[in-house]
Amino acid sequence: MAKAIVIAVDGPGGAGKGELTRRLAARFGFALLDSGAIYRVLAYAVRKAGLALFDEDSVVQEALVVNMSFEPQDNGVHVLLNGEDVTAAIRTEEAGANASKVAALPAVRQALLQRQRDFRKEPGLVADGRDMGTVVFPDAQVKIFLDASAEVRAKRRELQLKAQGKVADYDLILQEIKERDERDRTRATAPLKAAADALILDSTALTIEEVEEKALAFIHEKLGTLELNG
Ligand code: DC
Repeated sequence: MAKAIVIAVDGPGGAGKGELTRRLAARFGFALLDSGAIYRVLAYAVRKAGLALFDEDSVVQEALVVNMSFEPQDNGVHVLLNGEDVTAAIRTEEAGANASKVAALPAVRQALLQRQRDFRKEPGLVADGRDMGTVVFPDAQVKIFLDASAEVRAKRRELQLKAQGKVADYDLILQEIKERDERDRTRATAPLKAAADALILDSTALTIEEVEEKALAFIHEKLGTLELNG
């Protein structure tokens, strides 16, 4: 039997994957996997348990038992850790950097593989991450690599934080983005890179509508219009 459709969207933080994957999932009625949130919750749980982010054995143990769940609500998907709503707590810059650290540990990535693959269900899944098309779903029917310059991503993040009434320092954000990119792209296991058969989409000079339009054209080219009603 053919496996459920997976649309894998990979790329660095801030390239617009979150917005694109939310739109695609809603359009096609597909489930959504925010794999970055899994690494973020794990790092949060590790810190809460008083464990070190680089202690691979302890982080793996935590990855195997951590009780996380994702609940769609009117204002988006809420992330729960042992029933506690950690949606806002895992979105800070520090939580992102911590996630990137635990994500660099090979055994931790291995321990989280099945948890991610379990999201694949009919009629389909839109998967957002760094290694969706290369490692987690190498047989994904559609693979997109969404990129953007570090400067544009830093600017977007600055505006996002300011819109939330938070303090935002562009230079600091840019430096953090570059550090996280470097760690994600150079790690030994499942580094951030485009799959050979991915559409590479650079969103630096595009609006989200233009990104969505290009992604849709590629999806229809890959899947045909018959299977989808989007
Ligand atoms: O997409 P995000 O910013 O929420 O991801 C947080 C970190 O998690 C990111 O810096 C790298 C890591 N990550 C990963 O290694 N593999 C994924 N599939 C998703 C995220």
